[in-house]
Amino acid sequence: MLKTLIIICFSLTIIYSQKFERLAQTPPMGWNSWNNFACDVDEKLIRETADAMVSSGMKDAGYIYVNVDDCWHGERDSLGFIHPDPARFPSGMKALADYIHSKGLKFGIYSDAGWKTCGGKPGSRGYEYQDALQYAKWGVDYLKYDWCNTEALNAEGAYLTMRNALYSAGRPIVFSLCEWGNNKPWDWGKNVGHLWRTTGDITNCFDCVVDHGTWKSWGVMYILDMQDGLRIHAGPDHWNDPDMMEVGNGMSVSEDRAHFSIWCMLAAPLIAGNDIRNMSKETIEILTNKEVIAVNQDSLGIQGFKYSTEDSLETWFKPLSKDEWTVCFLNRSSETRTMDFVWEDYKIADEFSKREINFEEVIFNIRDLWIKKNIGTTDKKFSAQVKSHDVLMLRLTPVK
Ligand code: GLA
Repeated sequence: MLKTLIIICFSLTIIYSQKFERLAQTPPMGWNSWNNFACDVDEKLIRETADAMVSSGMKDAGYIYVNVDDCWHGERDSLGFIHPDPARFPSGMKALADYIHSKGLKFGIYSDAGWKTCGGKPGSRGYEYQDALQYAKWGVDYLKYDWCNTEALNAEGAYLTMRNALYSAGRPIVFSLCEWGNNKPWDWGKNVGHLWRTTGDITNCFDCVVDHGTWKSWGVMYILDMQDGLRIHAGPDHWNDPDMMEVGNGMSVSEDRAHFSIWCMLAAPLIAGNDIRNMSKETIEILTNKEVIAVNQDSLGIQGFKYSTEDSLETWFKPLSKDEWTVCFLNRSSETRTMDFVWEDYKIADEFSKREINFEEVIFNIRDLWIKKNIGTTDKKFSAQVKSHDVLMLRLTPVK
């Protein structure tokens, strides 16, 4: 009798397994250790980062997740439970999660669908339910799940296993699929996780590729071009993830501003990847620009699109709630560009969101989101300069 009951309960859990819904109605915002610290992580860094999240104003701007990436792991115990590296995390993960929660923030962790992580630490393959239980007990709120060492695994199946394991463990955890776009996660990821990586790894340059031999990492513009065609797959609770940000990691201020603006136009998760304990004034200003963040976090949840390219000057539009729009001019060339913009010449009809702009019929107020000033209306010709590797980002609000 007991056996039958257990089998029924187990089967019901499988049948009714799902992802935890509504954990990411807008793109997740936070920080992750990988881009700047790689495997050099410990509890001191994570605690100090949580402190800095509050003191820098990032928490106030909406950043909430403090995520430790690869290499936090120690060994599995005799029962198979994973433990953190005792030298790097001597107080344990529960204490770390408690500390982060005490700051009003959330805690993220990293694992891998294969038998080892990309950094060679124990992966979750064969331990999915046990790991999910352990994360739930620690108080984890976000899991980034990587794709190294997954020979002979089916991606959708492997991610479904972890999704179901998280659901059975009972603690709502944002599930971030890090499969690099190899198996088109945008086709099946919506019911599996809350965000999925669309590309290989980002690197801290605007327009370069770094060849590591067996794999490559990509500058911001390369990653941007790889997003082509994917916007129809994203929306509230299921986002395309063009990777964590490189703002503050060595590009010029203009390039950082362009990178951040474009991630906001793409409704991308805003996961900072720099050392937020030591930020320049410019980096803080970029990462905490609330008006630009509001474009990313708009409740409509529509990813922006490229309207045109002329001599390396791209024009991007993103529909917002309440019939507002953002337009972002991105100068990819090495020279300053001057634009003469006649709004009526632009006919915007977005098939995906079913939204249109006819500038002959509707006049918009224009606000420059970086200088934070209202700069006129769309019934007049508009002239502006955009510096090399920089943007002009404007919010358009219909005149009542
Ligand atoms: C992969 C991921 C990165 C990072 C590293 C960690 O390359 O794509 O984002 O998590 O693994 O080893």
